[in-house]
Amino acid sequence: MTHTASFAVIIPAAGSGSRFGGGDKLLVDLGGLTVLQRSVALFAHRPDVRHITLVTAPDRFEAYRSHLRSIVSPDKLHFVPGGRERWESVLNGLRSLSSLTPPPLFVGIHDAARPLTPPAIIDEAFRVTVERDAALPCLAEPATLKRMGENGCVAATIDRRGLYQAQTPQCFNVAKLLAGFEKLHAANQLADVTDDAQVFERNGWPVPISTGSPLNLKITTAADVELARAIVASSTSTDSSHAR
Ligand code: C5P
Repeated sequence: MTHTASFAVIIPAAGSGSRFGGGDKLLVDLGGLTVLQRSVALFAHRPDVRHITLVTAPDRFEAYRSHLRSIVSPDKLHFVPGGRERWESVLNGLRSLSSLTPPPLFVGIHDAARPLTPPAIIDEAFRVTVERDAALPCLAEPATLKRMGENGCVAATIDRRGLYQAQTPQCFNVAKLLAGFEKLHAANQLADVTDDAQVFERNGWPVPISTGSPLNLKITTAADVELARAIVASSTSTDSSHAR
């Protein structure tokens, strides 16, 4: 790590998980730790992260607090109520940052459902943010993309050159992101915003792209859990073979 700037991390975790099909996907076990424990652990011991704000329904605060006791020191962990849409959850989290001491200069916003982000992805996103006020970890789109027509057949092939999948942590200068959010909120222009970089984009501010990773998967369906378990199992067996 080459910087000592203070980051807060907001972890939006207030989604309904409707595409997961039953149960709280954040409490699913991935090789001895849950999805949520792993996502929080990514930031818990970083010296550049002073605060972690978990955004979720108030009736989960106590359960999640005790669930995370072994992962992060309680004075570093804060809880904020979620909203109906992801952007509302993030805005609630952002507004709460001004009451922290010391107030953070930078923020990383990381989906609770991304438990396996490689540390190097976070290091680079933070470094770029300190230099340029924002960073968006992205993965070049590897697939050939099709648009489906109303008849269930291919209507078009999309040129994938220059297309990237946006990942998290998406990182920003806190004051700038909050100002951008409040401006769009006042103008009623947040309804279709699905990630935080769009707030910078809509204000005309540059969003530098940093390196993403296929390992930084978002747990959305039950199949993603199988994939995540396989990744954890293979990294555990690699670790133990290195130790031998
Ligand atoms: O819905 P989507 O998959 O984009 O959600 C990404 C992240 O945002 C998840 O971690 C989810 O819990 C969170 N979220 C939220 N509040 C909402 C909707 C989603 O915190 N209202």
